Amino acid sequence: MSTSRLTIGLAFAGLTLLLGACSDGSDGRTAPDTLAQGARAAGIEFGAAIDWDLNEPRQRILAREFTSATVENSLKWQSLAPTPESYDFTRADAAVAIAENNGLRIRGHTLFWSRLNGLPTWLEAELSATADPGRMLEALMQAHAKTVVGRYAGRIAQWDVINEPLALLSGEFEPDNPFFEVLGEAYIDIGLRAAHAADPNAALFLNETSVEFLPAKFEGLIALAERLLERGVPLHGLGLQAHFIFVPPDRDQLEAQLQRASALGLTVELTELDIALPLFANAPDPLAAQAQAYADVVAACLAVPACTGITTWGIDDGRTWLDSFELSAANAPNRPLLFAADGAPKPAYTSVLLALGPAR
Ligand code: XIL
Repeated sequence: MSTSRLTIGLAFAGLTLLLGACSDGSDGRTAPDTLAQGARAAGIEFGAAIDWDLNEPRQRILAREFTSATVENSLKWQSLAPTPESYDFTRADAAVAIAENNGLRIRGHTLFWSRLNGLPTWLEAELSATADPGRMLEALMQAHAKTVVGRYAGRIAQWDVINEPLALLSGEFEPDNPFFEVLGEAYIDIGLRAAHAADPNAALFLNETSVEFLPAKFEGLIALAERLLERGVPLHGLGLQAHFIFVPPDRDQLEAQLQRASALGLTVELTELDIALPLFANAPDPLAAQAQAYADVVAACLAVPACTGITTWGIDDGRTWLDSFELSAANAPNRPLLFAADGAPKPAYTSVLLALGPAR
């Protein structure tokens, strides 16, 4: 090697060391190299929503950066059961295999959900055609939990057994929910008990949306969890979805909410985190403001030992549900994740690393 090339090489190595060692620029802490490294050091899981068709570049990011995966769509009842009698696990198995091949913890999502693509297309017609819908629905729910949770028993660590039981904007039950309409609150007991029977070692969650910015709705969720626990129903965790589409996260409020879940003896996770960039359109540097918001969310979780995981709802800005969801599609591109559409880490990625760090 020529002297000049050696000099350049050494200078480059020195610069890399310098940048690495001063990566937070201020108090000398060294950021971890990856989200996974930081999460392990901090004692939490850091996950992403994935599915069977995850492309190669995203699989590489998943393998490098994450410790956990949630199956975004393929484990939903609508995806699994084209008819009441038949299940097709092709896509679900493929998604689970991607997670397992990377040694990731897996969150199962979701058994009983009435919105968007949650309900089987045939369910309501079946229920209205029978003389005893309560009996039919209970039997269908039990069979569904047994089939799906049983299939992955010992492999899927956590299940969002019940998703979004509450009304969009209040702490009351969602009235337009066939499970609730037919069985009342007991549908939640039935679902959790059936999932527990199918895999006694899986951690069972109640997962809810929009509670982070609707305090009354959060109270409704806590009250529901308290009733379930009083009845001895196997509930182990609360999932706060953490879709920040309408307002940015409030660190103190979020931390207080995580504490409330903890006080019930429950685990709590932030299960579907994304923070829409248009929220910060008026900030001098929107990407920096988004980065701060992500750091706030991570700090809130790390402040509460019962907060055992954070999952972003996707990997990069090139594939986010917010760009097609009816309440956020008009703002597309929402750019709500930690990686840009080309896979490059965003300022939010760096701020999450620093919030998780220092490297140990
Ligand atoms: C979304 C998926 O990301 C989309 O691909 C799909 O079209 C609709 O569902 N709350 C949930 C998730 O619990 O299951 C939703 O996922 C997003 C809102």
